[in-house]
Amino acid sequence: MNSIVAKDLVKVYNQKVTALKEVSITINQGEFIVVMGHSGSGKSTLLQMIGLLDLPTSGSIFINSKDVSKLPKNAIADVRQKSLGFVFQAFHLNPQLKAYENVMLPMLINPEYKNKAEMEKKAKELIDVVGLSERAEHYPSQLSGGEQQRVAVARALANDPDFILADEPTGNLDSENEVIIFTLLKELAQQGKGIMVVSHNESILEYADRVYYMKDGVLGDEKR
Ligand SMILES: Nc1ncnc2c1ncn2[C@@H]1O[C@H](COP(=O)(O)OP(=O)(O)OP(=O)(O)O)[C@@H](O)[C@H]1O
Ligand SMILES: [Mg+2]
Repeated sequence: MNSIVAKDLVKVYNQKVTALKEVSITINQGEFIVVMGHSGSGKSTLLQMIGLLDLPTSGSIFINSKDVSKLPKNAIADVRQKSLGFVFQAFHLNPQLKAYENVMLPMLINPEYKNKAEMEKKAKELIDVVGLSERAEHYPSQLSGGEQQRVAVARALANDPDFILADEPTGNLDSENEVIIFTLLKELAQQGKGIMVVSHNESILEYADRVYYMKDGVLGDEKR
């Protein structure tokens, strides 16, 4: 079973704002982990560090026991592409592409896919996984916010990552769609993905295997 282990992460922005103060956290495959906290507490910063989207000022990130935080930039990008999928508050779909074509996008730079037909097949399977079989050929403008976010979840699964990191994934959704997205992420955890969601939405708590509260860059003790 694979895991992400973040150890003693410190992030200082512009040599003055300390957004993370020696934060350590582990995400195992098959777990749904939630990090809650007020605005500005450092949740997104933590997700950016764990997601290898930005480097910590100090500390390490181990993925499957390997310290990836000290690798050269292109190797980090490679790990990110293979092991991690992302979902953000804004869906960031390409409006010119159909739903399944959006899901194909991350596959285009993955050498494991041999040809376009294979990518198309996989993308349509993932559209099925998120319950949008009938909408595969639709453009984002023809989909509701909740449906667009489901496409974004399918896109996060494109390269079959072990982990999905989500930053306020229901921030733009109503409570009905919130339930759909949280349930979908929970199912993915039960199927073996490691899921970390950062949020200040209390309704996520019932889905969590473990919950952490962040305050002023400090991660509190775990609560079940
Ligand atoms: N790129 C940046 N440059 C400078 N300061 C930053 C940057 N990103 C975040 N910060 C600061 O770091 C601290 C933590 O911000 P962060 O975005 O991680 O909080 P958050 O918990 O995600 O907040 P929110 O709930 O509003 O999304 C804040 O003081 C913020 O202003
Ligand atoms: Mg944030």
